[in-house]
Amino acid sequence: MNAVILVGGEGTRLRPLTCNTPKAMVPVLNRPFLEHVLCQLKAHGVRTVVLALGHLSQPIEEYFGDGSNVGVNLVYSVEKEPLGTAGPVKLAEQYLDGRFLVLNGDVFADFDITSIVAAHGRSGAVATLALTPVEDPTIYGVVEMSAEGRVKRFVEKPRREEVTSNMINAGLYVMEPEVLSYIPAGTKVMFEHNVFPALLKAGKPMFGHAQTGYWIDIGTPQKYLQLNLDMLGKDAHAPQHPAGALVHPTARFSGSVLLPDDCIVGAGVRIAGPAVIGPSCQLGPGSVLSRSVLWSGSLLSENCSVSASVIADQCVIGTGAIIDNSVLGDHLAIAPGARIGPGVKLWPKTGCGAT
Ligand code: GDD
Ligand code: MG
Repeated sequence: MNAVILVGGEGTRLRPLTCNTPKAMVPVLNRPFLEHVLCQLKAHGVRTVVLALGHLSQPIEEYFGDGSNVGVNLVYSVEKEPLGTAGPVKLAEQYLDGRFLVLNGDVFADFDITSIVAAHGRSGAVATLALTPVEDPTIYGVVEMSAEGRVKRFVEKPRREEVTSNMINAGLYVMEPEVLSYIPAGTKVMFEHNVFPALLKAGKPMFGHAQTGYWIDIGTPQKYLQLNLDMLGKDAHAPQHPAGALVHPTARFSGSVLLPDDCIVGAGVRIAGPAVIGPSCQLGPGSVLSRSVLWSGSLLSENCSVSASVIADQCVIGTGAIIDNSVLGDHLAIAPGARIGPGVKLWPKTGCGAT
């Protein structure tokens, strides 16, 4: 079975992390987000994956190439203009062969895809939507179902008074080729606003399949940080200090810490996990890092404190600076002694329309 992953969104809400990095490439446990999704699809027997993209496609193609490193056959389907969520699937029709999967490219779901596909086959649905429970359905697509699991109504981003269920569209669909005939070619079309309502109106069987596994949409920096911490915490492995990392004997670790072997950790450093440190980072003497994600090549000078924050590539944090509950774009220099946060987002000097 083949799959289409929608990776064309601009990742606006994830800024400043997405100013120079496509949403699909933001690192999760030091590997691009998309790599986790591709590995999961491979594990469920998907052979060919169409990446439907537009914005910032080059870094994705450069990293993944033909997909052989991850073990799937990758096809790039690049839109000239954004075609929404369904338009790109129509554009990729030539690569689809029979029943197929569609995934929102910003969702991490630890779902049993094989069982969803099997249920789809048994029910005779033209489309089966994986569903997940959430506390606030108003920022998602809400699905109302019959007792048998047949979708009766789909409402995208309902107003609070319209919410009738906490089961939302998890952004993973199994579809029959017939659905493609409901997507006009060459124009922006949304599953959520156009195709699902049209299928329901035509009386076509659409089913929901509730899942209980871990699910997150990494739409915001907070969610992105959460995914990293959850994934690292879940493994609950002891602090990792690969042989190659230069760790001063007085440095102290607690909880799960991901530390690549080309990092340098100075005297008296304290790292309280879960924490993810990217390749080639340096943590200067006396610095404290907790519940945070550092991308590659960042430097904490002496006696810095970073908590509940995300710091993108190649930042330099001056001596004694304190960063709390904040998000730093790439290539930023923070002055010695600076106090940043809580709740601050700092934009990089390039990207996001800066230059
Ligand atoms: N190729 C392409 N082209 N991809 C696109 C485009 C486009 O024009 N527009 C959006 N996408 C991709 C985004 O990159 C993302 O992976 C996916 O489509 C969904 O778009 P979002 O902008 O993230 O939508 P959302 O999170 O507000 O809502 C969607 O996801 C929810 C689950 O996270 C909807 O499908 C909701 O119904 C759903 O509950
Ligand atoms: Mg989303």
